[in-house]
Amino acid sequence: MDRIKDKVAIVTACTRGIGRAISDRFAEEGAIVYMAVRRVDAGQEIADTHNALGRRVHVVYFDGDILDTIRPMVESVYEAEGRIDILVNNLGGGVRPGNKDIVGSDMEAIHKAFEFNTIVTSLCAQYAVPHMIEGGGGSIVNISSETAVVPQLTRSWYGIAKTAVNALTEHIAVQYGPQNIRCNAVMPPFTKTDAVKVLPPEFMEQYARAVPLRRVAEPEDMANAVLFLASDEASFITGQCLLVNGGYTLPGADYADSIAPRTAGCRG
Ligand SMILES: NC(=O)c1ccc[n+]([C@@H]2O[C@H](COP(=O)([O-])OP(=O)(O)OC[C@H]3O[C@@H](n4cnc5c(N)ncnc54)[C@H](OP(=O)(O)O)[C@@H]3O)[C@@H](O)[C@H]2O)c1
Repeated sequence: MDRIKDKVAIVTACTRGIGRAISDRFAEEGAIVYMAVRRVDAGQEIADTHNALGRRVHVVYFDGDILDTIRPMVESVYEAEGRIDILVNNLGGGVRPGNKDIVGSDMEAIHKAFEFNTIVTSLCAQYAVPHMIEGGGGSIVNISSETAVVPQLTRSWYGIAKTAVNALTEHIAVQYGPQNIRCNAVMPPFTKTDAVKVLPPEFMEQYARAVPLRRVAEPEDMANAVLFLASDEASFITGQCLLVNGGYTLPGADYADSIAPRTAGCRG
């Protein structure tokens, strides 16, 4: 409890999934949470549940498909609180049908992958960083993906855009470290959210057999890592992109007999 007490935190895209787990965890840990969401009513319902327990959760309008909503979202939080301490850039995904292998991808899907994953993340940081500097520092956590470091057979531009999120993380860390702003990323693997519900259970079971810790990630696994990186407990950690994947990417060829074969499908 109270690991980020009284910190003003923005979490984007948090009505469901990993973002929801993060904003819930932040609220439990004493932060003043701003849920930046496109479905304001749904966000308000979640906020009301927290606030009934004495927590402090607010809702601000933000649509990752409309870039013009980003600046007003950040500014409205600053106007209300006079500071921004934590920014979690959770919005991402949005994979279009034309996002395939390198030869087969169409330009519209390529552009959208970069806009939805990299550019929105960058703009949220661009508008929040000056306010963090005014407040003496801050912590940014970007939600990247395991696919940033493990190439896929399809959905290439989602992975490449997330690799760019990792690079963005390092750039922010280097550029604003002297102003006491830290920036790190969490790279989720397959995580049990609506985004992967479409996958057959057999596929998930096969995947889990290839994970040394032998299970599929929960949104709360990501939220716990984000909480740590956002908090002062990580005060000397910056520019790091953390895999929270039960060791999935570790086994080498000499380990092949003791794990199931790698799945050929797409990761989140
Ligand atoms: N799940 C995985 O396996 C996995 C793996 C690697 C990385 N990730 C990354 O983790 C992050 C969260 O993914 P998730 O699996 O938790 O997603 P999710 O369960 O599908 O939830 C998506 C969230 O994003 C919101 N959203 C979608 N489009 C939006 C828009 N245009 N503007 C504002 N909000 C929007 C949704 O709001 P509504 O309720 O309004 O639709 C919802 O709250 C993403 O960056 C994703 O790339 C996920």
